[in-house]
Amino acid sequence: MANTLTGKHILLGISGGIAAYKSAVLCRELIKRGADVRVVMTPSATRFITPLTLQALSGHPVQHDLFDAEAEHGMGHIDLARWAELILVAPATAQAITRLVHGQADDLLCATVLASSAPLCVAPAMNRGMWDNPATRDNIAVLHERQVHVLGPAEGDQACGEHGPGRMLEPEQLAEQVELLFADAVLQGVKVVVTAGPTWEAIDPVRGLSNRSSGKMGYAVAQAASRAGADCILISGPTRLTCPQGVTRINVSSARDMAEAVQAEMNDCDIFIAVAAVADYRPVTPQDEKIKKDSEYLNLELVRNPDILASVASGEPRPYTVGFAAETRNLETYARQKLVSKQIDLIAANPVAGENSAFDSDDNELLLIDKASTLQLPRASKPVLAHQLIKEIAKRYGSR
Ligand code: C5P
Repeated sequence: MANTLTGKHILLGISGGIAAYKSAVLCRELIKRGADVRVVMTPSATRFITPLTLQALSGHPVQHDLFDAEAEHGMGHIDLARWAELILVAPATAQAITRLVHGQADDLLCATVLASSAPLCVAPAMNRGMWDNPATRDNIAVLHERQVHVLGPAEGDQACGEHGPGRMLEPEQLAEQVELLFADAVLQGVKVVVTAGPTWEAIDPVRGLSNRSSGKMGYAVAQAASRAGADCILISGPTRLTCPQGVTRINVSSARDMAEAVQAEMNDCDIFIAVAAVADYRPVTPQDEKIKKDSEYLNLELVRNPDILASVASGEPRPYTVGFAAETRNLETYARQKLVSKQIDLIAANPVAGENSAFDSDDNELLLIDKASTLQLPRASKPVLAHQLIKEIAKRYGSR
């Protein structure tokens, strides 16, 4: 995506965490996409990265002092609050988040946010213990309620030497998410049902059959649909992901649970997107007690699960139906066969072999196939691809 933010006024707020060093790159990424960026820092952020750096990159004076008479004489914080079309606080430390939640206004960044009616995004960045703390969890829940866009955090190595959730998303990922927030509402008022994640087919109370689907693609599709204005229901197998903002999630476990939950939503569904990696088979008789390892061999008798996508496509009323096809080889041929055999409108095929496998990865590539055309969506992050996919679906749905 190039210049998707042309002329957009973005206020970048930087609070005082070690990830502040990445905000310089973030500033560049936003400008590269055409945005006009102004930067406000908290006093503690200036201890991690200098205002001069951000001034040089943004091309505008950087403000960090609420009581700086000269700065207030120029573009004061109320003017900045009015100027901003979107505010992105990155990094948002646990402290900054607490202050935002409580509407505090005794530093320039929080005062500006409080005075602004622009959409607010925060990119949390903190130690994993701080992120998991109930105080932070409650604060994040409040932000969700207020329709604040919480971007991330990511999971990975942390500056403190620990590993876990709490890392700020990378600058490029944040810039992408901002782009998506400015995207058009191409599905306003449309009801979209998305399935995501794996299913779990019980063998006994502690064991089951499942697969390597992380749910990331399906969740990204649900988020993109919701951001495009859809009324989105996400029917999800077991994953560790949090429900995207604005989306209603229904948690299920087995394929049969998923099929039932999907059927219950079909009456007024306009678009159905099956991203879930549904188990093809389930044990015929799941055991009530844990199976003991008494014998050398154990035979499991399996039976086919219902094909949720195919039954939606042959049902009445029939929504616009989109399937996914994960293939290790002959991607296009197999995907086209699926399009025909399941009688669906569009199929999104993705390779799952080798190092470019989509499993648990943060990015993916898709080949979109319908009766009339084939379109390659090149490798990109799952949120970006999901956004492109939703645009393509909206186009086809609109011209049915
Ligand atoms: O037949 P196959 O599993 O390869 O088809 C994949 C597509 O069908 C995906 O969109 C998946 O969500 C959907 N599917 C389904 N119910 C099944 C199996 C697959 O909805 N039992």
